[in-house]
Amino acid sequence: MRRLTLLFALVTASVWAQAPAKPQASTTQAAHAPDDTCTQCHSAMEGAIQQPALLIKDDVHTTAGLSCANCHGGDATAVEPDVSMSKAKGFIGKPKRADIPALCGKCHSDPGYMRRYRPQQRVDQLELYKTSIHGKKLASGDMNAATCVDCHSVHNIRAVKDANSPTHPLNIPATCGKCHSDAAKMKQYGIPTNQVDEYHTSVHWNAISKKGDLSAPNCVSCHGNHGAKPPDVESVSAVCGSCHVLFAQLYEKSVHQPIFGGGNGKGGCTVCHSNHAIHQPSTAMLTGDKAVCTPCHEAGTPGGNAAAEFAKGLNGLDAALKTSEATLKQAEYYGMEVSASQLEWNDGHESLIKARLALHSFDTAKVKKEVDIGLAIAARTKAAAEDALREKDQRRKGLALSALFIAITVAAIALVIRRLERTA
Ligand code: HEC
Ligand code: HEC
Ligand code: HEC
Ligand code: HEC
Ligand code: HEC
Ligand code: HEC
Ligand code: HEC
Ligand code: HEC
Ligand code: HEC
Repeated sequence: MRRLTLLFALVTASVWAQAPAKPQASTTQAAHAPDDTCTQCHSAMEGAIQQPALLIKDDVHTTAGLSCANCHGGDATAVEPDVSMSKAKGFIGKPKRADIPALCGKCHSDPGYMRRYRPQQRVDQLELYKTSIHGKKLASGDMNAATCVDCHSVHNIRAVKDANSPTHPLNIPATCGKCHSDAAKMKQYGIPTNQVDEYHTSVHWNAISKKGDLSAPNCVSCHGNHGAKPPDVESVSAVCGSCHVLFAQLYEKSVHQPIFGGGNGKGGCTVCHSNHAIHQPSTAMLTGDKAVCTPCHEAGTPGGNAAAEFAKGLNGLDAALKTSEATLKQAEYYGMEVSASQLEWNDGHESLIKARLALHSFDTAKVKKEVDIGLAIAARTKAAAEDALREKDQRRKGLALSALFIAITVAAIALVIRRLERTA
């Protein structure tokens, strides 16, 4: 059977080799040049042997002018399979799973080689990969761990920024989920398999998928891509703090930092916000049955009192700002000039944001300071809107009076005219 296939392959390939070259194909795509016998012969095969030759047209390596033999070795000009795919010509066949990283690294770790194609390209992927949990597991003989092709695909490798690549921010959760959501595969490691499901409920995924904000974190922003769980990220608060800088600065100096830790990876910001299911924060985190403080601070204790005070301050300012905003809108609706107060109102809203930030010092005085500034602005802008509305009412009364006066005058004139007509 194998001999028959090879014979068939040999015949098809020689027919091709004799056929005139397609001029268009050879000028536009080097990989489909007629002397690439690997692609030609494999295109005529079926099943797993054919797939690579069909997929490869969209592969970034094809675009760069590379072909099958650049990865698999062999002689891409020889028509006879036992020559083109001979060990003598360096043919390696299908690489073993454990050998894949080194195969990709052959070029990607060679600065001299990569510079010829793209001067700015990084060449540290293999080096980082070896330090990652994936790389270490693979090296220790665990074939479940991710290799380069599990994250980048194979024969269909695309530029990482390509929206169709498995490494695009919108596709990364599914790429990691192939294994990390597979309960059967992950069972032996005793780690949860809910990361993708939880992440899909988060503010971060919402920002990426609904708002198109690619600056929000995906799996690799927090875990690293090649050094999955990178060694340089010491603590969880450092991961969050790489983007939420001001929050981390206050938290680092707070009473909780030394208690919550973070060095072991569990702790820091995630004690209150979680790691994958990060939802929109609100004062429900401070009081009520969903409060994150209550497991550690009972009501009436210093911590419990602080939580209640934070909630009261933040809710109070939020409500005051909403009332002021509604009154300003009403005044604007009646055409009153309140733009200066509307501008000032923005400062009040800024105070609310600052108060939420200040909460991360867990210092009641710091939060109260921002809340008080905001409350004063809310009161001032509301008073200004009410003044404007009163002025509107007065103008209306004046208007009504003059309208009445005009009506009486008109009626009087009409009476005089009618009398004049009668006498005439
Ligand atoms: C004339 C046809 C023909 C040519 C030319 C050819 N191949 Fe193949 N190739 C085959 C067939 C048929 C098989 C399956 C043979 C088998 O199962 O032993 C195969 C198998 C392979 C495999 C899988 C081997 C494995 O270990 O499972 C790889 C990889 C491969 N070819 C790459 C190449 C590369 C690279 C070239 C060019 C340097 C090339 N082929 C040229 C027909 C060809
Ligand atoms: C960028 C490197 C690269 C290029 C280019 C490449 N391959 Fe592969 N190929 C691989 C790797 C890596 C594997 C092993 C994949 C795995 O184990 O999942 C593989 C696997 C294969 C297999 C085995 C498939 C199977 O399911 O058993 C065949 C056949 C094959 N390649 C043929 C080709 C042909 C033909 C071309 C050109 C059209 C080509 N490859 C181009 C890297 C490459
Ligand atoms: C766990 C998944 C994963 C593994 C394993 C992986 N990569 Fe990547 N790789 C990515 C992601 C995701 C990106 C996109 C970078 C980004 O947006 O942060 C990337 C980017 C790249 C890039 C573009 C340049 C760069 O460094 O950003 C190259 C080249 C690359 N990887 C090659 C490799 C090679 C070679 C291997 C194996 C040694 C490998 N990758 C293993 C996920 C992975
Ligand atoms: C024969 C050398 C060679 C081998 C082997 C090789 N690559 Fe590449 N790779 C390149 C070149 C050249 C480019 C194109 C550089 C460019 O334009 O960005 C590239 C581009 C890429 C890109 C796109 C990078 C980006 O910036 O978007 C990825 C991803 C990638 N390769 C992954 C792999 C993986 C995974 C393997 C192993 C299965 C592999 N490569 C094997 C030479 C190679
Ligand atoms: C081919 C399967 C596979 C893919 C794809 C994969 N992983 Fe993994 N990953 C594993 C295995 C297996 C382990 C080892 C589990 C262990 O030892 O706890 C692991 C471990 C990890 C760990 C360490 C877990 C721990 O023990 O604390 C992190 C973090 C991780 N992967 C993140 C990712 C991210 C992020 C992606 C996507 C960019 C990804 N993985 C893609 C299989 C995979
Ligand atoms: C905002 C940062 C962040 C994002 C985004 C993120 N993680 Fe995590 N992840 C963490 C933190 C923090 C931990 C807990 C610390 C640890 O064990 O490493 C963790 C733990 C893990 C673990 C170890 C097992 C566990 O659940 O404790 C795996 C596996 C993992 N994440 C995979 C993923 C995958 C897959 C994605 C994308 C769907 C993802 N993470 C997105 C921060 C993040
Ligand atoms: C790569 C940058 C990045 C990292 C890392 C990151 N975030 Fe975010 N985060 C964002 C962006 C961007 C948004 C804004 C989403 C939006 O538009 O609503 C956000 C939103 C949030 C929100 C909602 C607040 C709001 O104003 O909408 C919380 C809470 C949050 N992140 C907590 C965390 C925690 C906790 C971590 C660490 C486990 C973390 N983030 C890691 C970038 C990041
Ligand atoms: C002890 C619990 C706790 C810890 C630890 C904590 N937070 Fe918060 N965080 C909260 C609470 C409570 C709120 C809700 C405030 C509100 O909106 O009423 C919040 C709100 C936020 C917001 C939204 C602010 C806004 O304007 O809506 C972000 C972003 C945030 N936290 C990030 C972080 C980061 C980053 C860390 C770690 C450096 C962290 N948090 C640590 C309790 C915590
Ligand atoms: C995982 C447990 C834990 C959680 C959750 C937690 N705290 Fe604490 N907090 C502590 C510990 C422990 C102390 C130190 C108590 C001491 O030194 O007596 C502390 C101290 C404080 C203090 C200083 C006053 C005091 O008791 O010494 C305040 C204020 C505080 N926490 C507020 C909060 C608020 C508000 C929340 C919710 C947003 C919160 N904490 C969530 C454990 C926690």
